[in-house]
Amino acid sequence: MRSIPPRLPTLALLAFGGAATIGGARAEPPATDLALRGVMQQLGRDMQTIVGAIATEDWALVASTAPAIARHPQPATEEKLRILGWLGSNAGKFRSYDSQVHDAAAALTAAAAQTDGEAVIAAFASTQRACLQCHREFRAAFGAHFRGTKP
Ligand code: HEC
Repeated sequence: MRSIPPRLPTLALLAFGGAATIGGARAEPPATDLALRGVMQQLGRDMQTIVGAIATEDWALVASTAPAIARHPQPATEEKLRILGWLGSNAGKFRSYDSQVHDAAAALTAAAAQTDGEAVIAAFASTQRACLQCHREFRAAFGAHFRGTKP
């Protein structure tokens, strides 16, 4: 009979007075996906649509897809606060990568509207670079912190 051990962690927490801190750090709620991950997955799909549209020089499709990247949805306030709390003094950097994505995707929309292929490709590269820079700096640590993935 091994029905008791799974309850022990709860009991142990209660024994510590239900303390919300472990080792001095604020305990996070159980690891689950944040809405940000769904936003990212949609950004990934939109970028793939755009790569395909560039390959076929379908500037109208680029122009109609890029605004969804420039104005991607934001997580709800509560989640934003959790993320900002985790970012601490890095919040400014994180936000600046986000606004670089916004600006580059807006330039991408404008270039596509003018059917300027060279400018579309340049703006696409700037957009992708902003994705890459934020990921290089924050993605692994974010997953490790909020979802318990390996850093
Ligand atoms: C401001 C920072 C930031 C920017 C800018 C950013 N991302 Fe992300 N992205 C993240 C973080 C943080 C994660 C990790 C989320 C997680 O593990 O739950 C992530 C994860 C992802 C994932 C993986 C989702 C999954 O299923 O695990 C994709 C795809 C993605 N981003 C696409 C993009 C694209 C495309 C862009 C640019 C158009 C972009 N991101 C710009 C921060 C950013």
